[in-house]
Amino acid sequence: MRPTITATTLLSGCIAATTAAAAAVAVAVPPSHSGLRIPTSHESAVLGRRILALTPLGTLSTVFPEDDKQKGDSNRDGGVSNQERRSPGLGGLPYGLMEYIADCEDDDVGNPTILAISIGTTFKNAAAGSNVSLAVQWTPPYPPAERIKSTGNSWLSYLGLSRTEDDDDDDDDDDERDISLPYSAANLPRFSLLGHLEPIPGGDDRSDEDGVGARLARCYVKSHPDARYWLPGNRIHEAHFVRLVVEQVYWVGGFGDRAYIGWIPVEEWRNVTREEWQKVRLPGEKKGWKEWSTQEDLKIKVNVKGGSETSIFTTSFFSRPRRPIIKAINGLVQPLLGPRG
Ligand SMILES: *[C@@H]1O[C@H](CO)[C@@H](O)[C@H](O)[C@H]1NC(C)=O
Ligand SMILES: *[C@@H]1O[C@H](CO)[C@@H](O)[C@H](O)[C@H]1NC(C)=O
Repeated sequence: MRPTITATTLLSGCIAATTAAAAAVAVAVPPSHSGLRIPTSHESAVLGRRILALTPLGTLSTVFPEDDKQKGDSNRDGGVSNQERRSPGLGGLPYGLMEYIADCEDDDVGNPTILAISIGTTFKNAAAGSNVSLAVQWTPPYPPAERIKSTGNSWLSYLGLSRTEDDDDDDDDDDERDISLPYSAANLPRFSLLGHLEPIPGGDDRSDEDGVGARLARCYVKSHPDARYWLPGNRIHEAHFVRLVVEQVYWVGGFGDRAYIGWIPVEEWRNVTREEWQKVRLPGEKKGWKEWSTQEDLKIKVNVKGGSETSIFTTSFFSRPRRPIIKAINGLVQPLLGPRG
């Protein structure tokens, strides 16, 4: 049986550090000594698979082919037309742009589903042999009820992300309205899936309503109702359902003292079951969450070794550091940011 880390032990661990100096030391102490436990790569994979299932947008990156390979049949989708006014010298440069994504395949191994429009630069690059990476970030549907704060100013104002830098008044409601991003994105998980695109066999055929193509279309249009106008076979653009075959996964769960940051073995990504990701909850899925707090609904239940043992833990990610820790972090960050102005 793994030890069960509860909210109480996490909090009492923090409360024991009463001075700024002790708190600063606590930041440097490994999680096993401080009472915090950093989630494993498997637990992070479970969160990641849930994020993939709930997130409709990502940034898909490709690399331009070498210049001498860029000429295509400009009369067809997929070729480079003069209309596009593509300049020479793009070969080898990376190119990333927002794309619609969905999680629609029955095999449930975590390969994102994408409706590729052949005329799009991303898909031209992929057709010319580029590998791809897809960046996805968790965007909470609700802002936190309680923000990360430091000395009365919001954390974001230190990073220059607050719209009104000069507004030092202490009215919390006004603060919230003035901040362009109502949560700490650095504190939330994001990941990059690396691999290549391939057509989904049968994906373009909707003649059988129980077939692969029809099921993909129904699932995709559920996430993206406007995409029904460019489903495969439409009269405007050549389009195909493709999958991103995930070969590598890089994960940044949030701040490194409480979240896992690093590569997730691809077998762990693929192995996550629907049941597992449906059980976990991400920060901000429900109203009234607090950025630093431990919360009942953020508990993660994971099966260890074939389901014979179960451990429940609250990711250390959600524990509440004490104000001196935030001060200590600000002390480190501020000199790097230079004078505020
Ligand atoms: C794509 O990535 C694979 C490794 O997964 C590599 O062998 C291959 O050369 C890459 N293709 C290109 C065009 O860079
Ligand atoms: C995960 O996948 C690997 C490789 O396919 C397999 O060997 C392993 O047993 C799987 N683990 C679990 C927990 O299902």
